[in-house]
Amino acid sequence: MRGIALARGGHIVYLGIDVGTGGTRALVMDEKGAVIASASAEHVNFASPKPGWAEQDPRDWWRACGEAVHKALQSSSIRAEDIACVGFSGQMHGAVLLDSSDDVVRPAIIWCDQRTEAQSNELIEMFGRDTIIRLTCNPPLTNFTLTKLLWVRENEPANWRRVAHVMLPKDYVRFRLTGERAIDMADASGTLMLDVANRRWSKEVLAKTDIAEKMLPALYESPQVCGRVSTDGAAATGLKVGTPVVAGAGDQAAGAVGMGIARAGAVSATIGTSGVVFAATDRPALDPQGRLHTFCHAIPGRWHVMGVTQAAGLSLRWFRDQFGVRAGNGASERIGVRAHLESRSRQSPQAVSQTKDPYDILADEAAGVPAASEGAFWVPYLMGERTPHLDPNARAALIGLTASHTRAHVIRAVMEGVAFSLKDTFTIFDEMKIPVTSIRLGGGGARSPLWRQIQADVYGHEVEIVAAEEGAAYGAAILAGVGAGGWQSVDEACDRVVRVAKRIEPNAAASKAMQAAYQTYRKIYPALREIR
Ligand code: XUL
Repeated sequence: MRGIALARGGHIVYLGIDVGTGGTRALVMDEKGAVIASASAEHVNFASPKPGWAEQDPRDWWRACGEAVHKALQSSSIRAEDIACVGFSGQMHGAVLLDSSDDVVRPAIIWCDQRTEAQSNELIEMFGRDTIIRLTCNPPLTNFTLTKLLWVRENEPANWRRVAHVMLPKDYVRFRLTGERAIDMADASGTLMLDVANRRWSKEVLAKTDIAEKMLPALYESPQVCGRVSTDGAAATGLKVGTPVVAGAGDQAAGAVGMGIARAGAVSATIGTSGVVFAATDRPALDPQGRLHTFCHAIPGRWHVMGVTQAAGLSLRWFRDQFGVRAGNGASERIGVRAHLESRSRQSPQAVSQTKDPYDILADEAAGVPAASEGAFWVPYLMGERTPHLDPNARAALIGLTASHTRAHVIRAVMEGVAFSLKDTFTIFDEMKIPVTSIRLGGGGARSPLWRQIQADVYGHEVEIVAAEEGAAYGAAILAGVGAGGWQSVDEACDRVVRVAKRIEPNAAASKAMQAAYQTYRKIYPALREIR
C-alpha cells in the first residue's frame, strides 16, 4: 500500500469521517497526527414513532457527510488531491435495508432502539444462550443488528421481501461514496452475525436464522482499502475521484484507536452520554455471562472487550437539566440550564467565553464534598443498564441522604455513581484476568478535573489524559493513514501520534474511602430489584 500518489507539492493528509447519531464529522489529519481541519453537519431526521424506538433516514447521513466534508475542505487550504485516503467510523449496530435498486426500504433502526426484546428471546430459545455466545462471542441484545432484521421480517413482511442488501450506518455512507458494499470486522462484531473469534460471517447463525450471506457486505480489516471515491461520490463531497477508502471501524473501536488503545493491557474509560470501558486484547476474551461485549478490534489479529454504562454523562446532564446550576449564592440566582444555554447562544463570542460552562459550575459546587459523599449514592440506571446487569428495566436511584446532605453532595454522588458503574467493568476484567496496564480517560469525564480525580480514586489506578482527545473521527483518520501506507501498522501510528499530556494518581485516603463505598454501591441494584 505504500506510495499512494499525491498531488505534486501537496501535503499528505488523511480524512476521517464519523457518522454519529446527532451528526457527521469530517476531520483532516496531517502525517504527524495534527488536526488541520474539522467540520460537522447535524442529522435532522431522527424519529421515535413509539416509546423505545429509534429510527433515522440513511439518506440524511449521506447529505450530512457531503456537507461536513465540503465544509472541512473549505475551512482549510487542503485540496481534495492532498487527501491520500479516507477512513470511516460510525454509530454501530443499526440496520440499513436496501432493495435491489439500492433504494432505502424503510428508515434505519438504529443502535439504541429497544423494540426487539422478543426477537432477542427467540434467538436464545433457537440457539441456547451458551451456543450463541460460543458462535458469536456475545449474547443476543436488543441493540444488535440481527434482532432488528428478525423484527422487520416478522412485523413488516412486505418490506422484508424487498430487502436485497443489509448494511451498517457508516457502510451505507461509504457505499454512496464509492459504490462498494464493505464492512470492517469491528462493526460487523456488533451484528451478532459475525464469528468474532474467526473473523468471518457465522455460517451457523446465518443458516439457522435464514439470512442469506449475499445480503451482507464483504468483510475487511479496518485499515484495508475497500473502495475508491466514485464520480457520484466526488460530486457530492468535493473529494477527488479515485481517492482510496479504508474499511474503518465502529465508533468505539475507532475512538479507542484515536486514544492509542491498541495493545493488550491498554484500557480506556470514556464518559460521553453513555460510558464505555474498553480493553484491547490479543485473544477473543469471553465473559460466559455475556456482561461485556467481545468484539474484533480495528487492528488485524486483535480483539477487544468493553462494558457499557447506558447513562454516564447523561446522569450529570439529567441533573443539570432538571435542577439547574447555581450562578450566585442566593436561591434567586439559581438559573435553569436551558435558560443559561439559550442566553449563551444569544451572546457575542467574547461574552460566551466569559460565561462559565454549567458543568464547571456544578463541579465547583461539588469540589468541597469529601470522597464517598458522606454516604450519598447514585446508581445511574436512567436508561436501564447493559454492564453488568443486562437489564433494560433497571431504574436509577439516589439513596443514603440525611438532613445534612446538600446539593453539592448530590452532584458529587452523581459523578461518583457513574465512576462506580464504570468500575463494574474493571471488576469483570479482574474476574476474566484481562490485563490493565494503563487507563486513558476520554469524553466529558476526561475534561473535568474533579471527575478525573474521582475516576483515579474509584479505579484505584493512575489515569492518563491524551493530548488530542478528538474522538472516533480521529481514529478513522489514523486508519486511513495506515491504509495509505503512511504508517506500517496501527500500533506504529498510535505510537507516533498519540501523546499522553497528563497523568493523575489516586489520592490514597480518598481511594480507600471509595473502595469501601464501592462495596456498598454493589449492594444497591440487587436490593432495588426486589422492590420493583
Ligand atoms: C456501542 C454502542 C454505541 C453506538 C453509538 O456498542 O452502542 O457506541 O455505536 O455511538
